[in-house]
Amino acid sequence: MRALLCKAWGGPESLAVEDVPSPRPGAGEVVVAVKAAGVNFPDLLMIQGKYQVQPPLPFTPGVEFAGVVTEAGAGVAGVRPGDPVVATVAFGAFAEACVVPAASVLPLPRGVDFAAAAGFTVAYGTAWHALEDRGRLQPGETLLVLGAAGGVGLAAVTLGAALGARVIAAASSDEKLAVCRAHGATDTINYSTQDLRARLKALVGAKGVDLVYDPVGGSLTEPALRSVGWRGRYLVIGFAGGEIPRLPANVTLLKGSSIVGVYWGAWREHEPEASRRAMTALLDRLGDGRLRPYVSARYPLARAAEALVALARRTATGKTVIEPEA
Ligand SMILES: NC(=O)c1ccc[n+]([C@@H]2O[C@H](COP(=O)([O-])OP(=O)(O)OC[C@H]3O[C@@H](n4cnc5c(N)ncnc54)[C@H](OP(=O)(O)O)[C@@H]3O)[C@@H](O)[C@H]2O)c1
Repeated sequence: MRALLCKAWGGPESLAVEDVPSPRPGAGEVVVAVKAAGVNFPDLLMIQGKYQVQPPLPFTPGVEFAGVVTEAGAGVAGVRPGDPVVATVAFGAFAEACVVPAASVLPLPRGVDFAAAAGFTVAYGTAWHALEDRGRLQPGETLLVLGAAGGVGLAAVTLGAALGARVIAAASSDEKLAVCRAHGATDTINYSTQDLRARLKALVGAKGVDLVYDPVGGSLTEPALRSVGWRGRYLVIGFAGGEIPRLPANVTLLKGSSIVGVYWGAWREHEPEASRRAMTALLDRLGDGRLRPYVSARYPLARAAEALVALARRTATGKTVIEPEA
C-alpha cells in the first residue's frame, strides 16, 4: 500500500509517498481502508519532532480518519469487515490503510460522508472538552475564540453557538471571519487590522468576556486575558503562533478569573469513559445534521504535503482532508 512517510524531522517538503507493507491486524485489532484522513496542526509539530508524541523514524503522520474495516484480528467482536468507522490514532492515518485496536473505532453515522467524519473527532472532541467540560460555558455567556477559522477554532465557534453563547470570532483576515459568521459567530475581530483589546471593549464593555478559547498563544494571549470579566475563564488550547506566552498572575487575582489547561488527548487517556460518551454524543449530532463540519479542501495522498503547507502558511480554513484513493 502507499503511505506518506516522515524519514527525518523537518517540514512538509521532506515527506514522501512510498510503497510500504500492508498492515495486518493483531489480536483485538482491525485494519481499516482509509477513505479520508483529517489534517491537524499537531501533524506539523510531529514531523518536526516538536510534539508530545515522537514516533520512531520512519513513521506515517496523521491522527484521525474515516474508512471501511477490511480485516479483523483474533478476538474482535462488534466490528466486522465492511463496517464504516471513524478512529483516532497516535499516528499513521495518512496511508491507504491503518491498523487500530477494535475498541477504539466508532461507527460512522449513517449518511455522513467520509471527509466530514475524518476531520471531526479531534476538532469537535477538543472543542467539546474545552467549552463544556473545562470551561463550563453557559447559555447567554460571551465566548471569544482566537484563530477562529482554524480546525479547533471553527469547531468551538459552531459548538459555542449551539450551546447558546454569544460568539465573538477573532482571526487574521476578513475572508476567515466570513467563514466564522457562516458558522454561528455574531461578532468578529480581524486582529491583523484591529486592536484586539480595544475592539473587545467596544463589543462587551466593562463586563468583559466570560470565556476565552485560545489555540494561538503568543502576543494575542495577554490582551485577551485582560479582556476577561469577573469569574471569567481562559482556556489554553495551543500555540499555533509558535510562542508560549508568559502571563502576569495579578490579572487573574483582580478578576477572580481562571486560566484552564485543555488537552483532549490526555483527557481520553485519563477519563476514557467520559470522553467516549462525549464523542458518541457528538457523532449523534453529526449524524442527525445538528453539526455540519466545514471541509474546505481535499488532497490526494500524493499531494498530502501541500495540505500541511497550507496549515503552516495559515491559508487553510476549517478542516482539510487527505483522500488516499483519489
Ligand atoms: N489542547 C488540545 O487538546 C488540542 C487539540 C488539537 C489541537 N490543539 C492545538 O490547537 C492549535 C490549532 O490546531 P488546528 O489543528 O486547529 O490548526 P489550524 O487549523 O491550522 O488552525 C490554527 C489557526 O491558528 C492561527 N495561527 C496564528 N499564527 C499561526 C502560525 N504561525 N501558523 C499557523 N497558524 C497560525 C491561524 O488563524 P489566523 O490566521 O486567523 O491567526 C489558524 O487558522 C494548535 O496549536 C494545536 O496544537 C490542541
